[in-house]
Amino acid sequence: MLGAIWAQSLDGVIGDGKDMPWYLPEDLKHFKETTLGSPVIMGRRTWESLPFKPLPGRPNHVVSSREPGEWSDGALVSRSLPAIDTDAWIMGGAQLYEATLDQVDIIERTLIDVSLPHLPTPVHAPRIPAEFELVHETEWFTSTRGRVTFDGTDFSPLRYRFQRFERKA
Ligand SMILES: NC(=O)c1ccc[n+]([C@@H]2O[C@H](COP(=O)([O-])OP(=O)(O)OC[C@H]3O[C@@H](n4cnc5c(N)ncnc54)[C@H](OP(=O)(O)O)[C@@H]3O)[C@@H](O)[C@H]2O)c1
Repeated sequence: MLGAIWAQSLDGVIGDGKDMPWYLPEDLKHFKETTLGSPVIMGRRTWESLPFKPLPGRPNHVVSSREPGEWSDGALVSRSLPAIDTDAWIMGGAQLYEATLDQVDIIERTLIDVSLPHLPTPVHAPRIPAEFELVHETEWFTSTRGRVTFDGTDFSPLRYRFQRFERKA
């Protein structure tokens, strides 16, 4: 099984090119619970955006045309999607989701109840193809500490829900 996992705003934003424009601890927990113990695969820019790396408890794979070096300490670098024969998760960013979605079986998406039309340099999630169907979604939850971080707009309390899509049989 190859999965993809991301969090996005209602208008499809996943990042500002460097970081995620929100802080949502409940989503970080969901990400950890979903991926722990399985390899995670990310693009080079997402690797660079991690404040602490490698992510513990999971083999960290980074896709890059660059030679491995000090910059990639703790990760396994490959020039294209690595062949992994266990369950694994594509964890971004936009370029890597786009490049791999046709090989993905499952999408775990966190929908965050904000729109960010004024975010400079937005990076967007891929459109989920019609070959996928929504098989599970939670109710809307309200975060206790979550917030949007890119400007002074107060979106709190932040609402979010978890969704799971699977490729149709
Ligand atoms: N909300 C979320 O769930 C989430 C998750 C992850 C990331 N993000 C956000 O997404 C943004 C980064 O995304 P991004 O699209 O700019 O960058 P990215 O996909 O993380 O990294 C792009 C780089 O990865 C390598 N790469 C990607 N696809 C490749 C392919 N098919 N073949 C070979 N190399 C490939 C290339 O590295 P080289 O240039 O080294 O060759 C490319 O420049 C950040 O803002 C981050 O915070 C959000």
